[in-house]
Amino acid sequence: MRVLVVGGGGREHALCWALAASPLLTKLFCAPGNAGIAEVAECVAIGAEDIPGLVAFAKDHAIDLVVVGPEAPLTLGLADACAAAGLKCFGPSAAAARLEGSKTFTKEVADAAGAPTAAWARFTDAAAARAYIRAKDAPIVVKADGLAAGKGVVVAATIAEAEAAISDIMEDRVHGAAGASVVIEECLVGEEISFFALCDGITALPLGAAQDHKRMGDGDTGPNTGGMGAYSPPPIFTEALQEDVMARIIRPVLAEMARRGAPFKGVLFAGLMITADGPKLIEFNVRFGDPECQVLMLRLKSDLLPALLAACDGELARFDLRWEALHAMVVVMAAQGYPGSYAKGSEIRGLEAAGQVSGVQVFHAGTARREDGALIATGGRVLGIAATGKTLREARDAAYTAVDQLDWPGGFCRRDIGWRALN
Ligand code: AMP
Ligand code: GLY
Repeated sequence: MRVLVVGGGGREHALCWALAASPLLTKLFCAPGNAGIAEVAECVAIGAEDIPGLVAFAKDHAIDLVVVGPEAPLTLGLADACAAAGLKCFGPSAAAARLEGSKTFTKEVADAAGAPTAAWARFTDAAAARAYIRAKDAPIVVKADGLAAGKGVVVAATIAEAEAAISDIMEDRVHGAAGASVVIEECLVGEEISFFALCDGITALPLGAAQDHKRMGDGDTGPNTGGMGAYSPPPIFTEALQEDVMARIIRPVLAEMARRGAPFKGVLFAGLMITADGPKLIEFNVRFGDPECQVLMLRLKSDLLPALLAACDGELARFDLRWEALHAMVVVMAAQGYPGSYAKGSEIRGLEAAGQVSGVQVFHAGTARREDGALIATGGRVLGIAATGKTLREARDAAYTAVDQLDWPGGFCRRDIGWRALN
């Protein structure tokens, strides 16, 4: 099979790495890819959001399966454009991708499906939003309703903070059009888990859970990021909890989406809060998490390619997935300054030594090769140093041993990935 992966981050490197191991694969392309992906796939210079460019490439190169990493091309209708061109695509239609693109839509679907979520209200008027905040009291959560690159959420500890968020999002439009309306939510308390389900429109199979670390600094301090590290499996997410989430959230939502004429195919990523009252849905994403995908791929024993095909073809009811009895961790190396502004072009050395640490797999995110062959940083999140071990501690020790082989003064990482499970 000839496969095109869309995207160029650590998640896409992990997907390419897993697909490259499939005996079914004959040729792997990635658009646009990165320097690490170039070691397992042919990178093509087409942007992940260039829908006509991607479809034309897939047709010209007789691609059998398009695998979409990020949400943006999905919300822009890449899966629909592929379907119209007779191409098979792993990822939801634009209508189903609204589960990530619109927070209001997600809340409506969750309520219709009876899935447990935080109490909520939506406002297009700033004064009404402020009145609601004062009535409900803090802590309270304010979210821009549209896509805001993962940055449109303020967990406000005080009423003043929540009101300031209303000014920023609705009046100053710091996230642009995404701030035309806001969703205000009850603040859930507990441990956060990223849960993934492989869906074919009707049937869902658990893809496992991971715990991300969204804050930039050790001890979960500092600004929110795309994710600074992850591990899997999280010990608090027991088999019983997983079955509860499948039964009360994933399967009812899948049925509700089908009922609405927008069946969900692809990876449904449920951001969960494990509260004292059980698991509650924080949000959906319509794709693998980054960096969660990296640890899931390290633990997946089954061939990824037929699993994605079965999801595309509506055949998951006759499918099962097998997992290695291993723990996995990924530590993200980011450019100094991330998630704020950061320099590009700093040279990274020591990657070979890092990759030789037993159990370690290095996934690239924002990297490129300079003309002289040197590896340089080109993004905010730059590398994911991942490792497996018989225990989480073993995986952690291997990952940080590899991190310490790197010679990259322009980068940093958190030193405490996995602390909730390890302490
Ligand atoms: P999101 O962009 O929706 O993933 O939200 C970013 C982060 O805000 C989440 O990962 C949570 O840590 C936090 N968050 C969002 N909604 C809530 C909520 N209702 N209660 C508590 N924390 C929340
Ligand atoms: N790591 C969280 C996400 O991919 O949205």
